[in-house]
Amino acid sequence: MNIIDKNYFVKINQQTFIDYGQILSKVNIVNFYNSLNHLSSEETKKHSDEFKTPPVYSTVITGTGSAVPEHILTNEDLEKILDTSDQWITERTGMKERRIAKPEEAASDFAFCAAQNALADANVKPEEIDLIIVATVTGDMPFPSTACILQHRLGATKAAAMDLSAGCSGFIYALVTAHQFISTGTYKTILVVGVEVLSKITDWTDRSTAVLLADGAGAAVLRATPDPDRGIIATYLAADGSHGKDLYMPAGGSAIPASIESVQKRLHYLKMNGSAIFKVAVRSMSDVVKRLMERARIATEDIALIIPHQANLRIIEAMAKMLNFPMSRIFVNIQKYANTSSASTIIALDEARRSGRIRVNDLVIMVAFGAGLTWGGVLLRF
Ligand code: ACO
Repeated sequence: MNIIDKNYFVKINQQTFIDYGQILSKVNIVNFYNSLNHLSSEETKKHSDEFKTPPVYSTVITGTGSAVPEHILTNEDLEKILDTSDQWITERTGMKERRIAKPEEAASDFAFCAAQNALADANVKPEEIDLIIVATVTGDMPFPSTACILQHRLGATKAAAMDLSAGCSGFIYALVTAHQFISTGTYKTILVVGVEVLSKITDWTDRSTAVLLADGAGAAVLRATPDPDRGIIATYLAADGSHGKDLYMPAGGSAIPASIESVQKRLHYLKMNGSAIFKVAVRSMSDVVKRLMERARIATEDIALIIPHQANLRIIEAMAKMLNFPMSRIFVNIQKYANTSSASTIIALDEARRSGRIRVNDLVIMVAFGAGLTWGGVLLRF
């Protein structure tokens, strides 16, 4: 007697489902199928009802928030401590000012404020959160994770929590990771945060990096919806570890633990090969946008807004040129916040939403590249 719906059996043979956190492999499914043959009709009905095909959910962003330090460091301020000029920084990067944390402020302080703003925007209580993912390379400490520190401060007692490291692509990587848990039905509500306090790993004697880096946080509340036309439509992630040393912090891990020598050699600061990164950034971000459009079968005219990582205005303009995409539909706030790495795209998304740049039904692409090297993007319908 074949008591399992035929379509259902075809589906379970095509893929492995995750149902409420339990992985149901094909072997388990077959065991389950066999065991049903020994059940009474009443028991069979009960199990069949409990064991329906797990629905596939869409992931929607229902709230965003951001938080940046109060202190503003302008290009003119940098002229006083470095051999640089407002003209050079403006022309070569598009940056005019950036936010810098106080000595006593840590990543979790900004993550907490951004998360509170996002939760209020989404009208979600901390107890409703199933998972917290914090994307960062400048967490409070190596462990516990900044996500666990945030979980405790928010009182999100039911949430699992983890950090994710993907450089400036961190928020995109975290968004795509969260999307996997939601689309499989494992979790319904996820808080994704991008936060950096780059000023604490900045070599303030190195003009080629000090003018670029800044601090801040952004957060998004993600929820499951059965509506297939809303939320995350397409995603793409990539990495190329061969470029790792073009952007890295040499010491502080197990390769070079902290020592007097590592401090004297200034190895606890970010090191960067700017021109190498520049080329990969333009190529990779353009490639991501093209792939997302192909996957969703849309044209550039369909995209209401591109929100790129804010690393350099010239990188953004070169990407726009490669894509033949108008700058008027690319969101730029680099002049105010400079490069906040993992926080950059989500701070930009929050600002875009709150300033009315995104309307219901708009197709929006978020795209980034960063240390690793990593790159990736997400296409969403709001
Ligand atoms: N002020 C004045 N002059 C400067 C400065 C400065 N702040 N920085 C560099 N210069 C000088 C250089 O010394 C060089 O002088 P030289 O010709 O006498 O040697 C000259 O300016 C040109 O230097 P370039 O490095 O060729 O300048 P470029 O136009 O490439 O701009 C920059 C440099 C802004 C770093 C660019 O390469 C860039 O944006 N790269 C990508 C950076 C990036 O996106 N990093 C990833 C994010 S960081 C993170 O992940 C946290």
